[in-house]
Amino acid sequence: MSDISKTSAWKMLEQDVTALAGTSMHQLFADDPSRADHFSMEAAGLFLDYSKNKITGDVVDQLIALAKEADLEGVRGHMFAGEAVNVTEDRAVLHPALRDFSMRDYHVGGENISPLIRTELAKMKAFAASVHSGARKGYSGKPLDTVVNIGIGGSDLGPQMVVEALRPYWIDGRRAFFVSNIDGQHISDTLALLDPETTLFVVASKTFTTQETMTNAQSAKAWFLDKGGADGDIAKHFIALSTNARAGEAFGIDPANIFTFWDWVGGRYSLWSAIGLSIALQVGFDNFEKLLRGAHAMDEHFRTAPLHQNMPVMLALIGVWNRNFMGAASHAILPYDQHLHRLPAYLQQADMESNGKRVTADGEDVSVKTGPVIFGEPGTNGQHAFYQLLHQGTDLISSDFIAAAVSQTELGDHHPILLANFLAQTQALMRGKTEKEAREELAAEGLTKAEIDTLAPHKVFPGDRPTNSILMEKLTPENLGVLIALYEHKIFCQGVIWGINSFDQWGVELGKALAKEILPEIAACGEKKPAAATHDASTNGLIDRINKIRGRI
Ligand code: F6P
Repeated sequence: MSDISKTSAWKMLEQDVTALAGTSMHQLFADDPSRADHFSMEAAGLFLDYSKNKITGDVVDQLIALAKEADLEGVRGHMFAGEAVNVTEDRAVLHPALRDFSMRDYHVGGENISPLIRTELAKMKAFAASVHSGARKGYSGKPLDTVVNIGIGGSDLGPQMVVEALRPYWIDGRRAFFVSNIDGQHISDTLALLDPETTLFVVASKTFTTQETMTNAQSAKAWFLDKGGADGDIAKHFIALSTNARAGEAFGIDPANIFTFWDWVGGRYSLWSAIGLSIALQVGFDNFEKLLRGAHAMDEHFRTAPLHQNMPVMLALIGVWNRNFMGAASHAILPYDQHLHRLPAYLQQADMESNGKRVTADGEDVSVKTGPVIFGEPGTNGQHAFYQLLHQGTDLISSDFIAAAVSQTELGDHHPILLANFLAQTQALMRGKTEKEAREELAAEGLTKAEIDTLAPHKVFPGDRPTNSILMEKLTPENLGVLIALYEHKIFCQGVIWGINSFDQWGVELGKALAKEILPEIAACGEKKPAAATHDASTNGLIDRINKIRGRI
């Protein structure tokens, strides 16, 4: 693809930045009372208001032109057609097929994959039903009421985020735990809460080779055998979600309990596949299906809506505007919903593993900035922590504010207070407070001129901090599906505009390889190891210091 920064749309957008330099967002709102109508849209039950970004109609037109210059519609078509848009791994990207319950067929390399998807979904449904009914029992004949999902990255963050988000939909009496970290404390702390007779371990790994997951699964197996289970009982208490059935069987898992998916499902897009079984076990298969159907509604919108009325496209373009033209290097995800507390972590992987790239899909150095740093916390907690920097820091940070008009759990005034904060923050970030306003406020409080001179600079808010507001009626399984798919497609669109491959993750490999080299050099407790010599002085020194301490213990 040609260099996006050389396109005429890019150059026009650079001119728009200069033209807007002397204008504030506050002024843009004052100039156009219907600004919010112009810069908002509704799709699949979600409402997006992007009017609190420093944009004009001309900016939006040029952003659309930019998307056209990047052939966004063409690449979107290639993705849905099952072409190998993940060029460095020569793979199709077809997670939308997993949630398409219409009878449309999807093909990869000439093969119709839709029957495979339907078969696997039916197998998941039957398995979940057998666990829920109590027909499937543990080794001592008790029903399996607890699930421990052992996975990491996409095999953990997606299912965990969804299970947390759908807490009110949990089936009574069922418990779900997620173990990801190689830090042994994670699995140990979890195992301490479990009854081996009623626990089902779900080993979730696309490759079934990931060091963290395999080590945690082996520790879970050792614990299970130690606590009364026998070798022959492993098949009743361990199942696998993986593309690597052979490795699952080698672990001791009954082939009938290995749920498969395919290389055209990226790890960070896998919650819709067999990796979603932990979700179905906790909230019921019907709710899992509703989640999938919600995502499909957003897929259909994304696939068919014109660019300027297309929510993922517009969210992506506004992100490009803020990242590349306004200079925002970080982007905050701020759900005003406690049950979405894992959404920022989930989107960190979805976005940063996808778009944290420095070369184009063709291997050329990118000429523009790519994915921003994603971070966030639920509101209102974040307000009492890092919003200070959003309001008055020296960096411009863009944010997505996400809320439901009705809580999953209405309780007294809690939700109106939450919503008032959601609204107030985007207003404050947009409007800011001028020095004149700050001085008038301080004067009204009765401060002296000298006191006002001292305090006024600290009370100024520059404003013009860009935010999107995403509103839904209620956090239901369907709406959650819509929301996640919105972000998936947003990330895809940005990758297309930046000309990068959003579907590989080579950047995680180097550290993994080095850790394998270093592992044999770490002393067991009480062991004396020779001085490390094969690395740089810093790494050698740290290894020796660690080994001295471990040697003494
Ligand atoms: O290391 C990165 C990664 O490959 C992610 O992309 C993936 O979600 C995670 O590891 C887990 O991989 P797996 O499901 O194969 O265990």
